[in-house]
Amino acid sequence: MATEYTPKYTGIIGWVERRFPTPFIEFQKHASGYYAPKNFNFWYYFGSLALLVLVIQIVSGIFLTMNYKPDAALAFGSVEYIMRDVPGGWIIRYIHSTGASAFFIVVYLHMFRALLYGSHREPRELVWIFGVLIYLTLMGEAFFGYLLPWGQMSYWGAQVIVNLFSTIPVIGPDLSLWIRGDYVVGDATLNRFFAFHVIALPLVLIGLVVVHLLALHDVGSNNPEGVDIKKHKGPDGNPLDGIPFHPYYTVKDAVGAVVFLALFAIVLFFVPEMGGYFLEYNNFVPADPLKTPLHIAPVWYFTPFYSMLRAVPPLFNSQFPGVMVMGLATMILLLLPWLDRGRALSIRYRGPYYKWALTLFVVAFLILGYLGTETTNVWGQFGDWLGKADVATVVARVCTLVYFLFFILMPWYTARDRTLPVPSRIAD
Ligand code: HEM
Repeated sequence: MATEYTPKYTGIIGWVERRFPTPFIEFQKHASGYYAPKNFNFWYYFGSLALLVLVIQIVSGIFLTMNYKPDAALAFGSVEYIMRDVPGGWIIRYIHSTGASAFFIVVYLHMFRALLYGSHREPRELVWIFGVLIYLTLMGEAFFGYLLPWGQMSYWGAQVIVNLFSTIPVIGPDLSLWIRGDYVVGDATLNRFFAFHVIALPLVLIGLVVVHLLALHDVGSNNPEGVDIKKHKGPDGNPLDGIPFHPYYTVKDAVGAVVFLALFAIVLFFVPEMGGYFLEYNNFVPADPLKTPLHIAPVWYFTPFYSMLRAVPPLFNSQFPGVMVMGLATMILLLLPWLDRGRALSIRYRGPYYKWALTLFVVAFLILGYLGTETTNVWGQFGDWLGKADVATVVARVCTLVYFLFFILMPWYTARDRTLPVPSRIAD
């Protein structure tokens, strides 16, 4: 490979290039020589932003680890020490806590883009699957990280979630004991969650992001028109509807990064807790194993699934059905490339069925998200005629149904949809 490469630079860069051409070859393959469709829009910012947030989290995490103590007796105090006494510690901590929420905002928008333009479809099935694995790993990473400040929500949130494993028939109780390393969430739990949060899952995450991008660059990027740009190539062998990623999209992505960082800074300096959504107020109280908070709610990015868990009624006094529904709600994403049978990729050429289905799905997901942050009776009770069911639980059940029907009925409604003819080229 290296023998076919003709060095381009002179001087010190050329000296390095002749001795170590690999980075130059890879840069050419993945940036200056990677042809991306010329019509990327707003929705295509979020991949590069997710990369940016990943770097922000790793760097701020390294600095937090320098002063954090993974010990049940010291953890809460060490976070307060970081906030009050470590020079610049408060901003590093807020960068990391805001970054966690920003990561999920960016990733949710990035996933929504795939649903808009059919980026999960052939030939990008593996790009999507690696994406879903990233999403699951990210949820694990956020869950482990949330225990570390050892506040009331850290403690009781972990207690609730680990207890969910004990609902699994036969192996459940042993499994949750094994996860905690103790009969209750304790020092052993904190130590292992720390190990997973600072090293194990970040390594997995980085590995998955690398294969996500390699797989994408093998098949090429999709675009808002859902047109395959590789079908029409010029005499130089490059797609006629493509432009080199570098400099065109590196510059475009830099604009996105600047806007994102400006918004990020506003949150950081003015509303770092974001009204209790990014940092829950109860988590400023040290963990107390003897005092359960009145209202235990996970951070906003988990709440749609938490709502599903609460919406499913227990069976024989076991919450296992709810746990299963919650697990299936994430796993079903893996099947998406094969459930979607639409003749067009992009929503621009899809028919009304898909447009309605996607709208209902997003609305249901948002309502579930909101309900998960509240107590179940937030909207009061229906009254006797519905067996005193509380309104929010019924709404959450309907939304859970909509969520699953979006996937289950997809082969049917996408195949029958009235699609418009897809152009073969991207118009100027
Ligand atoms: C750490 C998290 C992630 C990072 C850093 C990341 C990075 C990227 C980047 C840089 C791109 C190319 C630019 C773009 O299309 O915006 C991309 C494309 C893509 N990503 Fe991700 N991604 C992440 C998570 C996810 C997740 C969770 C999913 C879905 C479950 C996903 C699905 C996709 C798909 C389908 C494409 C191809 C889009 C297209 O060509 O239209 N990604 N990703």
